[in-house]
Amino acid sequence: MSLRSVSKVYAARAKNPIYAVRDVSLEIESGEIVALLGSSGCGKTSTLRMIAGFEAVTQGEILIGDRPVHSLPPARRGVAMAFEGYSLYPPLTLRENIAFALKSEKLGAAETSRRVDEIARLLELGPHLDRYPSTVSAGQQQRASLGRALVRKADLYLLDEPMGQLEPQLRAVLRGRLKRYLREHGLTAILVTHDQTEANALADRIAVMEGGVLQQFASPATLKNEPANLYVGTFIGEPPMNVYRVTPIVEDGRVSLRENGEELFGYAASELGDGLVGLLSARREVVVGVRPADVAIGSGGAPAKIVTNQWIGDQTHLESAFGGGVIVATLDSRFAGTGGDALTVDVPADRLHVFAASGEALAHGHRLAAGEAA
Ligand SMILES: Nc1ncnc2c1ncn2[C@@H]1O[C@H](COP(=O)(O)OP(=O)(O)O)[C@@H](O)[C@H]1O
Ligand SMILES: [Mg+2]
Repeated sequence: MSLRSVSKVYAARAKNPIYAVRDVSLEIESGEIVALLGSSGCGKTSTLRMIAGFEAVTQGEILIGDRPVHSLPPARRGVAMAFEGYSLYPPLTLRENIAFALKSEKLGAAETSRRVDEIARLLELGPHLDRYPSTVSAGQQQRASLGRALVRKADLYLLDEPMGQLEPQLRAVLRGRLKRYLREHGLTAILVTHDQTEANALADRIAVMEGGVLQQFASPATLKNEPANLYVGTFIGEPPMNVYRVTPIVEDGRVSLRENGEELFGYAASELGDGLVGLLSARREVVVGVRPADVAIGSGGAPAKIVTNQWIGDQTHLESAFGGGVIVATLDSRFAGTGGDALTVDVPADRLHVFAASGEALAHGHRLAAGEAA
């Protein structure tokens, strides 16, 4: 499946057109699970609806296999979609709703009912199959809607926030089952979500969108370790990356990263490596990003003072006053300090993310971003 420079403009002729999707290109392999991840309004649903054929593309091409499909009606694209708003047929039971999706496959009654039962088991819908949409919970309606998409044979499955209404326990169980189902059948799927845990757990690759623009399309590990820009860096990861706008001062074999003249982080030039030092000496201002898990507490470094110390059940979140702002650190164990206690914070040179003032990534530890010459 490919998107080639796809754009969507709503109300194109109105005074204020809405640029929902801007020039998005993506190549998805057969059998791959891809997540479209981004905050509300970033263009995820619009992208999915253009692939399914429920919205026309304003510009660009969509191919499934090598077939251009962007001019075909939905029924001829070979896609199955679970809609954000479920759109079940109210006069049909959940069983009939799911079976309805099989109409065009002209299966016998026995095979239809076998397929519906299989999907109902997968989604824990068995006991509710003979009820009508208006008499079941939002989560049950949503699972029926997901079932209606999965029960069909299609080249591509498009799932728009398919688990948003489920309580966390069930969501985690169904996430695992959905992944196993897609994998066992070798299905290709695009999952829309604003939940990064869901995207990380399910997807081979994640397309991060913001403002209708594709920010980065990469594996969960690459998004975390090598975010392409400050948006992706701060959007991916919980709690978010700490960021500081600093002036790099390179002198006497030392690199000092300063905020309003005060050093936040200091390194021997040899620790950072020639590539990164060269890059820093050429810039008046950069943004450094530090993941909370990479902050070392109490082993030297810059002074900080605890603001809050929270144990969240399996991790400590420690927020400390640092420079003109704060630094958040996560630790795997309980931490004894309380508000007001002094400590030191340190970030190993190879854990530092460096971004240009404009936001694009320059380096991740010793690895320079593509396009940044040593
Ligand atoms: N049918 C429509 N008419 C006008 N604007 C729309 C329509 N659908 C979506 N939009 C706008 O397009 C932008 C992207 O929306 P959408 O694709 O639904 O985002 P997401 O699914 O990421 O929340 C938003 O600003 C939204 O208000
Ligand atoms: Mg949406």
